Amino acid sequence: MNKKTTMHLLEENIARAATLLESGKNVAFPTETVYGLGADITNASAISRIFEIKGRPTNHPLIVHFAEIDRLDYWANNVPESAWKLAAHFWPGPLTLILPKSSHVPLTVTGGQDTVGLRVPDHPIALALLKALGENKALAAPSANRFGRLSPTSAIHVQQELGDKISMILDGGICKIGLESTIISFRDSIPLLLRPGGIPITAIEEVLNQKIELNKNLKHSLATPGTHASHYAPNTRLEVWSTEFIHQRALELSAEGLQVALIIRADSDQLIHIQNDNIYHILMSANPIEYGQQLYATLRMLDEKNFSCLLAEAPPDDIKWLAIADRLQRASFKT
Ligand code: TXA
Ligand code: MG
Repeated sequence: MNKKTTMHLLEENIARAATLLESGKNVAFPTETVYGLGADITNASAISRIFEIKGRPTNHPLIVHFAEIDRLDYWANNVPESAWKLAAHFWPGPLTLILPKSSHVPLTVTGGQDTVGLRVPDHPIALALLKALGENKALAAPSANRFGRLSPTSAIHVQQELGDKISMILDGGICKIGLESTIISFRDSIPLLLRPGGIPITAIEEVLNQKIELNKNLKHSLATPGTHASHYAPNTRLEVWSTEFIHQRALELSAEGLQVALIIRADSDQLIHIQNDNIYHILMSANPIEYGQQLYATLRMLDEKNFSCLLAEAPPDDIKWLAIADRLQRASFKT
C-alpha cells in the first residue's frame, strides 16, 4: 500500500472512531505513554461502561484528555501559575495535572471528587481524534487494561486485554514512553507527586524552581488505584531482588525444579550468566528511558511463557529510575 493510501485509511479510521465516541461507544486509542480506553466525558453511559469493561471500582477517578493547552482553565478552576507553567512546558506530553474541576467535568468522571486529572497527550492520533471531536470536547481515558493488570503499550495488547468488549482500537504502533504519565497534584498549596511516570521529577523541579514533595500516603490512598499493592501486575509471580542476591534466589528456585526468568540490566556489575536449564536471562537496557519503554511489553511476553517466577533486579537508587522502581514494586508479589 502506498503512503497516501495509508494516510487516507488512518484519517478514515480516526473519523470512524470519532463517530463511535459521539454515539456513546468506547474506543481505545494510542498515546505516547500507554493505550487509553476512551469515552466522551459528557456521555454518562459511556463513562460507566469504562468502569464495567475494566472491572474498576467507580470511585477511582479517570484522567481527562483534551487537545488545546490554553483551554486548561475551561476544564479546571483556580489554575495556579505553576500549573500553567508546567502545562506550557510539558504539554503535549506525559504529565497529568490534578486541579479543582470546573463545571464542565462531570462527577462520574472524577469518581465523585472535586478535582480532575488533566492531560494533553503527545500522540498525533490521539490529538487528531480529539480535534475530530470538535471544540471543548474531551475524552476520559484510563489505561486500556483490565483493573490491576499491566498497561498496554501496543494495539495487540489492547486486543488481548479488552478486544471482545470495545467497539474499536485505533492502532498507533508501540508507545514511545511505555510508562504512564507523571501525576502532579495541585490540590493542596504545594505541588505533590502522586505517580512518577513519563516526565522525570527533576525536570518538573527545574521548571518550577522548587522541590516536589513525594506523596507519603501514596500506597494507601484510595483516590489513586495505581497505588494499591499488586497493581500493574503480570499473572506470574514477580519478585524484586537486589543485584547482590538475585542470582542466589534464582539458584534456590531452580533447585526446587522451578523455571525462572531473570530480568537484569545490561550494565549490572554482577552480571553473571548462570548456566542452568531452569534459568532464563532477559537483558534490559541500562538506560532508564529505554528500560521504561520495554518494561510492560517484556513482562507481558514473559507472562505467556509459563515461568513459575519472574525475578527482577532492583533498579539503581537514583531518581531517574523512580518510575521503574515504583512499577516493579507494584507488580511484585506481596504476602
Ligand atoms: O499515561 C497515562 O496517564 C494513561 C494514558 C492513557 O493517558 N492513563 C492512565 O490512566 O494511566 P489510569 O486511569 O490508568 O490512571 C490514572 C491515575 C489513577 O491512579 C487515578 O487515581 C489518578 O490518575 N487520578 C485521576 N484523577 C485523579 C484525581 N482527581 N485525583 C487524584 N488522582 C487522580
Ligand atoms: Mg491504569
